[in-house]
Amino acid sequence: MACQTFSLLLGSADETARYAQTLGATLRPADVVLLEGPVGAGKTHFARQLIQSILTDPEDVPSPTFTLVQSYETTRGTLWHADLYRLSSVFEVEELGLSEAFETAICLVEWPDRLGALAPPDALTLSFSPADKEEARHLTATWTAQRWSDPIQSWAAA
Ligand SMILES: Nc1ncnc2c1ncn2[C@@H]1O[C@H](COP(=O)(O)OP(=O)(O)O)[C@@H](O)[C@H]1O
Ligand SMILES: [Mg+2]
Repeated sequence: MACQTFSLLLGSADETARYAQTLGATLRPADVVLLEGPVGAGKTHFARQLIQSILTDPEDVPSPTFTLVQSYETTRGTLWHADLYRLSSVFEVEELGLSEAFETAICLVEWPDRLGALAPPDALTLSFSPADKEEARHLTATWTAQRWSDPIQSWAAA
């Protein structure tokens, strides 16, 4: 299937949170969402808001900057939140259990460029970038797997 894209302007951190929650409600095991963009673009904010909206029991959602991965029990199934910025080699992807998680859990991955060829081809990629206003961000979703067409359609309708 050809590559699909959908772009939108996130006017505020709260607006980003709403889109994150809308997507969260549609996720299921083996869904992989790759979060791209420079430091401060809003990747962790998006992940945190998504995770908190589906957590089975309320808890803090810290940035996995140092732990690299963090896992949660959610109403949609087990979810892994990864930040691969500090990944030392692509072999660590296996050691961390991420390769297996891609097939069994919901995975949200910051700095997915570190995955190289291990990036799942069916993933949804969300690319965040700065906008003119301090509290706004551009977001572009890209995917090839049919699986993402409905969830992103619900964004378009929001
Ligand atoms: N529209 C927006 N979307 C997401 N974050 C925003 C937005 N506007 C302001 N912010 C702020 O920008 C910061 C983004 O930080 P963070 O999510 O940690 O970035 P990253 O993980 O991409 O490095 C947060 O403090 C967040 O509140
Ligand atoms: Mg981050």
